[in-house]
Amino acid sequence: MTAATSQPPTSPLAPPLLDAQGRRMTYLRLSITDRCNFRCTYCSPASWGGKKDLLDAAELERITSVFASMGIRRVRLTGGEPLIRPDILEVSRRIAALPGIQHLAITSNASHLAALAVPLREAGVTQLNLSLDTLSPETFRRISKQGDFAAVLRGIDAAAAAGFSSLKLNAVVVRDVNDAEVPALVEYAHARGITPRFIELMPFGQGTPVPTAELVSRLRAAGLPLEPEPEDTADAATSVTSGPARYWRAPGGRVGFISPLTQNFCGGCNRVRVASNGDLRSCLGGRAQAPLHQLIRGGATDTELAVAIRRALGDKPEGHRFTEPGNGATLLTMMGIGG
Ligand code: 5AD
Ligand code: SF4
Repeated sequence: MTAATSQPPTSPLAPPLLDAQGRRMTYLRLSITDRCNFRCTYCSPASWGGKKDLLDAAELERITSVFASMGIRRVRLTGGEPLIRPDILEVSRRIAALPGIQHLAITSNASHLAALAVPLREAGVTQLNLSLDTLSPETFRRISKQGDFAAVLRGIDAAAAAGFSSLKLNAVVVRDVNDAEVPALVEYAHARGITPRFIELMPFGQGTPVPTAELVSRLRAAGLPLEPEPEDTADAATSVTSGPARYWRAPGGRVGFISPLTQNFCGGCNRVRVASNGDLRSCLGGRAQAPLHQLIRGGATDTELAVAIRRALGDKPEGHRFTEPGNGATLLTMMGIGG
């Protein structure tokens, strides 16, 4: 069992794992495939190309165990669509069983969940973030191109019944496509004990975003008495992650908004990303990378992996003195800049 600590690391494999800004990394986002069975208009997956050099279940476990020893407590499997991997249950089981990993979440389009919700729960997955942008079959087809809407709705119901500790429903809001459905999506989610979250469209492709403030006014105009949730309450409720979402209270439950365009949410970033090809990616400046897959294949030890991870995140022990005990808030305020 690895105890959380605020002391400087005693070895490359010990916590804390700090980025170049001194922010403590506790959350690992692990992309396990770049493929998806949908083709959402707003989504730009890294590649639809030939077979990619994915990490296998044992390699994903190995990498996560190194991160866990360095202080990562929460893992999210992402994609593409993670549930299209045939070994998704094995991957989940191995990661959930690692000492130090307290939460295992998956982001999914829900299309495979009717069959997988209960097995995933049993494999140790604690939280799901599911994508649902619309309640209309026509709009669904327009957005996702080749998704099976009925399967998605069945998947969401299966997830709601499976006993996950947290379920969220993410909708990317696009003007004149699904913005009128926001109140109905809140009702649909709350009726199932799910927290709806509305995401400002990042305009990679087509479509116009709707600012969060406009959605809040429109929900109020539709008769939903939204009250802002104090930020410290939001942080306590989401425990390990102080993620990018801001939450409001409504009579039926919470409503979340993720506002990449109108609010800078990078300040509290506690996450590190590994792409489906095994490259560690740090958002900071975009240049910090470590080819973890290559290192593993070349026979790197856990310590060598940890050194590469620290180097990529810019934590050079000789150049950085880590002084703050109980640092959280102090470190977060350092980060007004970029990211
Ligand atoms: N803007 C905002 N969010 C996006 N996602 C994908 N593409 C975009 C975009 N252009 C997010 C959505 C989706 C998840 C898989 O990725 O939350 O549900
Ligand atoms: Fe992208 Fe998710 Fe749509 Fe797949 S379901 S195309 S990952 S937004």
